[in-house]
Amino acid sequence: MSNFSEKERKPVNVNSFMKFKKQNHKITMLTAYDYSTAKMLDEAGVDGILVGDSLAMVALGYEDTMKITTEEMLIFTKAVARGVKSSFVVADMPFMSYHVSVEEGIKNAGEFIRAGAKAVKIEGGSDYTAQLTKRLTESGIPVLAHLGFTPQFINSLGGHYIQGKSAENTKRILEEARKMECAGAFAVVLEMVPEESAKYITENISIPTIGIGAGRFCSGQILVTDDIIGKYSDFTPKFVKKYADVFTVIKSAASEYVNDVHTGSFPEENHVFKLDETEGKKLYDFTDKNN
Ligand code: KIV
Repeated sequence: MSNFSEKERKPVNVNSFMKFKKQNHKITMLTAYDYSTAKMLDEAGVDGILVGDSLAMVALGYEDTMKITTEEMLIFTKAVARGVKSSFVVADMPFMSYHVSVEEGIKNAGEFIRAGAKAVKIEGGSDYTAQLTKRLTESGIPVLAHLGFTPQFINSLGGHYIQGKSAENTKRILEEARKMECAGAFAVVLEMVPEESAKYITENISIPTIGIGAGRFCSGQILVTDDIIGKYSDFTPKFVKKYADVFTVIKSAASEYVNDVHTGSFPEENHVFKLDETEGKKLYDFTDKNN
């Protein structure tokens, strides 16, 4: 249950994330790619809405997240921003939209802010990513870091593997998280790391951690909405809790509709527009000279 009722909910801003961590208020984030989903999540009291590049797979049917461009992501970001009143909207910067140069990264990030996002998310914890984060933050663009399993690096990682599986690798992720915190990131997404590792990282940085497949001890959680409502059926990761089965609901509604149209049960009397009776009669008045 959310702490806030729909009416009294104050807009979440970048400072709310640190405040929530200090207050031990578990931060909630979900993904949205369209206006009506964003509106539902906002009304449900979700703290942050990510226009994730997962939309490449979930909404557009690509095989990975690397296929989506900045231009495409901007369309979805605008739609989500139009549906939100209080949640904090973060846009995922897509593959290669921030890697060529810091200047290009800032320019593209600016487009997401113009589209209505309040922050951008970037993957990785290299010196370059930290430098970009510093420049973005100095330019007034808040940055959500993304460490652990980073889908845009899938070709370098060799597949969907859990990250930080040893003390040494956990400490490497912690170093990256610290680097991103020093550079100005307001929070860090930790994806697919053992929960002991995520706990250790959460305890050793000041900014909040938002876990996805990172266990119970992060400062908050993020999941893909289409996974938790059971709409995306291609694959459900182990860390997802399914709260609904929208795939079955939509599929059975659609097949009922098909059947109704075939059998003539739809449309019914109350679904149709009627001609005025006298006008209706004229249609069949064969003495009418005009016909
Ligand atoms: O693209 C995405 O949906 C993400 C996850 C962290 C939810 O990056």
